[in-house]
Amino acid sequence: MGTGTTGAVRHSSRRLQTSLPHRRRGHIPCCLPTPATWATATWLALFATLLLVGCSKGYGDGWDWERMRKQKRADPFGASPIFPDGKVLQTPPAGTVPADAIVDNTALTEGTRAGVVIRELPVSVDSALLARGADRFGIFCTPCHGERGAGGGTVGVNLKPYEPPVLVSPMVAGTPVGALYHIITHGGARMPAFAAQLDVRERWAVVAYLQSLQASSPSVAADSGMTGKAGDNP
Ligand code: HEC
Repeated sequence: MGTGTTGAVRHSSRRLQTSLPHRRRGHIPCCLPTPATWATATWLALFATLLLVGCSKGYGDGWDWERMRKQKRADPFGASPIFPDGKVLQTPPAGTVPADAIVDNTALTEGTRAGVVIRELPVSVDSALLARGADRFGIFCTPCHGERGAGGGTVGVNLKPYEPPVLVSPMVAGTPVGALYHIITHGGARMPAFAAQLDVRERWAVVAYLQSLQASSPSVAADSGMTGKAGDNP
């Protein structure tokens, strides 16, 4: 067994010895570039030449960048001879909706069904929705209504003469979800609208999170009529 191991070692070292003279026989000294290095350098030089040629003017049909740069184009705020109002940017025709718009679902988009304000969330509540709601609430609502909706937000305390209302009150907890969604979407007298910052799902996520804040608020829990309602939404 001992001799076997020695044999293997001897064998591999012999291979190492033979490979070195073999290289020398090819007349490629160690410090000159290998064929692979030469190939890379050649490609780099060719690429650099193409780059330089590409930037120069009028070099044949295939590489005429200059003509591409200088061609006529319509800039967004430029004038246009094509349209009657003389502008490049055109107002979309009436009734145009974004490709990702939710249509024919007023419960989702307006918080109403057949004109009646809805009282149950039109989305199913899971931990991802609540997490998103908590995140958005922290960014957009906390400054005025406070971290847990109980007031004391840095902006809120400076809103004179009246501070924004406490959101974890029996009154707000008893407000239909559609009405909460409505004020987040369209704003109020002194509260800004958030339709531009929060998409439909995020607005409902904020409503769902607000309900969870209310459910865990002692002031809401103290009002027996409201605790069951907030807890209805798992
Ligand atoms: C710039 C301050 C400000 C911010 C930010 C703000 N609100 Fe308000 N909010 C108010 C004020 C002020 C009122 C009182 C109604 C009014 O004047 O518009 C109000 C009212 C409300 C009401 C109605 C409460 C009631 O008594 O019926 C709800 C619900 C509400 N806010 C939720 C939110 C949510 C959710 C957010 C975050 C998406 C938010 N607010 C962000 C200032 C703010």
